[in-house]
Amino acid sequence: MSPLHVTRTLPEDATEAALRADVRRGLTDEPKWLPPKWFYDARGSELFDRITELPEYYPTRAEREILAARSGEIAAASRARTLVELGSGSSEKTRHLLDALTSLIAYVPVDVSESALTRAGQALIAERPDLEVHALIADFTAPLVLPATPGPRLLAFLGGTIGNLLPAERAAFLASVRALLDPGDGLLLGTDLVKDERVLVRAYDDAAGVTAAFDKNVLNVVNRELGADFDPDAFEHVALWDARHEWIEMRLRARTAQTVKVPALDLAVEFAAGEELRTEVSAKFRKDGVGRELAAAELELTHWWTDAQDRFALSLSVAR
Ligand code: SAH
Ligand code: AVI
Repeated sequence: MSPLHVTRTLPEDATEAALRADVRRGLTDEPKWLPPKWFYDARGSELFDRITELPEYYPTRAEREILAARSGEIAAASRARTLVELGSGSSEKTRHLLDALTSLIAYVPVDVSESALTRAGQALIAERPDLEVHALIADFTAPLVLPATPGPRLLAFLGGTIGNLLPAERAAFLASVRALLDPGDGLLLGTDLVKDERVLVRAYDDAAGVTAAFDKNVLNVVNRELGADFDPDAFEHVALWDARHEWIEMRLRARTAQTVKVPALDLAVEFAAGEELRTEVSAKFRKDGVGRELAAAELELTHWWTDAQDRFALSLSVAR
């Protein structure tokens, strides 16, 4: 069996410095916010995996349906020998692609969650002893250095995670993705689609409260890493549809006026009763917009597939 290669491009102290900088900026801003990448410690990654199984959370099932139906076409179009996957998490849906890509030599999952990455990597090398698995603990919004594996490359960004970036961040991200590709290499992108507001809000505010626990987990991360004294029960999970931006916003609303101390930053943060802290946007897309954003990064949309209920799209584009 080939070993699992794990590379950390995020030294522990750089991660802590990035968390400190984000928490200081976000909690001293008006309105307050925190970036969604800090949800994903071991518990956050586990909660996300539970979200993917909720009856209300359709994106994972819809994207899996498309991958199951289209992986053969994706493999034929890309002929990839290396599959890079950003924000790979459990790599569960990716198995459809790994099975279909018959010329594949290397799989490079990239994630900030070390626990998700090593669990997925260990399972994969046991299942696919022929495959080189180079797991990269890295932030995909920072410059990435990929291992020297053979082309052509297919870079997959699944789950609709691109929607968790703000529009300007998306443009910078797509330009950096393009810079990782050679002409002819492909980008396989999962995007959740605009749909009925009630379906969307339910997907982010499930009856069992798993998404609420996931949302509040960012407070546990700040407590543990920066010694803060957030009381997660003092905040209420809120999911709302922003029709102007066509995105879902997750927020944490302070139930009462309170002061939260963040000793590592020597900071005391005042919350008014009812004040909201934005923890995530999850943008929903239309085909035209996706094509335009890809074209702006010199990526040409060649294939667009949706699930039977037109809830989610997977697109393949090629680097020009
Ligand atoms: N692709 C999987 C997981 C989606 S959840 C799926 O479709 O089910 C989002 C994943 O992206 C998590 O595993 C999280 O740890 C990772 N992630 C979020 N922000 C990240 C960042 N800035 N850099 C690297 N990984 C990130
Ligand atoms: C990872 N990402 C695509 C998820 C989403 O749907 O935006 C994260 C999530 N947030 C709440 N539920 C799931």
